[in-house]
Amino acid sequence: MKDSIDTIYQAITSYKVDNAAALEQFRIKFLGSKSDIKTLFTELKHVPNEQKKEIGKLLNELRMYAESTFDNHKLSIETTSVKKGVIDFSKPGDFNQVGSHHPISTIKNEIIEIFNRIGYIVSEGPEIEDDWHNFSALNFPPEHPARDMQDTFFIEKGEREMALRTHTSSVQVRVMENTTPPIRTISPGRVYRNEAISARAHCFFHQVEGLYIDKNVSFADLKQTLLYFAQEMFGEKAQIRMRPSYFPFTEPSAEVDVSCSICNAKGCNVCKNTGWLEILGCGMVDPNVLEASGIDSSIYSGFAFGMGVERITQLKYKVNDLRMYSENDIRFLKQFTPTI
Ligand code: DAH
Repeated sequence: MKDSIDTIYQAITSYKVDNAAALEQFRIKFLGSKSDIKTLFTELKHVPNEQKKEIGKLLNELRMYAESTFDNHKLSIETTSVKKGVIDFSKPGDFNQVGSHHPISTIKNEIIEIFNRIGYIVSEGPEIEDDWHNFSALNFPPEHPARDMQDTFFIEKGEREMALRTHTSSVQVRVMENTTPPIRTISPGRVYRNEAISARAHCFFHQVEGLYIDKNVSFADLKQTLLYFAQEMFGEKAQIRMRPSYFPFTEPSAEVDVSCSICNAKGCNVCKNTGWLEILGCGMVDPNVLEASGIDSSIYSGFAFGMGVERITQLKYKVNDLRMYSENDIRFLKQFTPTI
């Protein structure tokens, strides 16, 4: 036994370790679970009782020698790496990559929060929608161009006609069908249109729909609600203007512009020197739409509005190319990482 111990001492002393791989070999050979030292420890039980104490002590010393030699080798490899410039302690550390919210999500959540504060609750609907909820209940006549294959992605044609929803207005219908007024809801979600992808158009994007139904709701309520939204989103100096427009589901209808926050409404290339930027469509819910969803239009009235989340995000972050939002280019997304 003593001879074996001596042999191992010599083996440890003469073992050459000058790189990380050799250090690992050293560890396996002398400190691993199948090492000779471990084997000697298991053989200790066969040693006559009167020698056990002495041999046990020698074995423990041997193990400590192996351990300290290992530590020394390790230290010297590390210091030579530093000397050789393999490790440069003056370099900044490797931080874990922190994820970030997508700018579209950030703005969508901001829109939700703004309307939450005045009592609107979130409702959602399916992205694969039937003709009734996407078009018919919203007063689209059968020959309306939006029903065309050119604008809508149909999934099934014919009797069970299903399509990818072209707007989140479909969710209004679902809410009205299932709720007795008063209703105050916003519906964020993804929508799809059969458009060629370019900097200014995409085949999918995001909208937030708003709906308010109660007794005696007026156009003035709509205007004040949207002014509140614009000032919360773009700052208290923001102004809005309404231009008459047409949507099948609202009467009267309007498009809403917000004063350009980039040039303080003085005129710049983003607002095309008008001082105004279009942000949403809105109007008083057409009585036909209320009736189609089972709401008595002689008792209730309401307003609705719909905005593009990409549009608001572009204005907030001054990102002009719509494609950026879905290309997942890490250099773009990284700019929205929260600073800690
Ligand atoms: N659904 C319309 C669109 O996708 C936006 C819209 C306009 C929604 C007027 C509304 C509204 O609720 O009243 O272009």
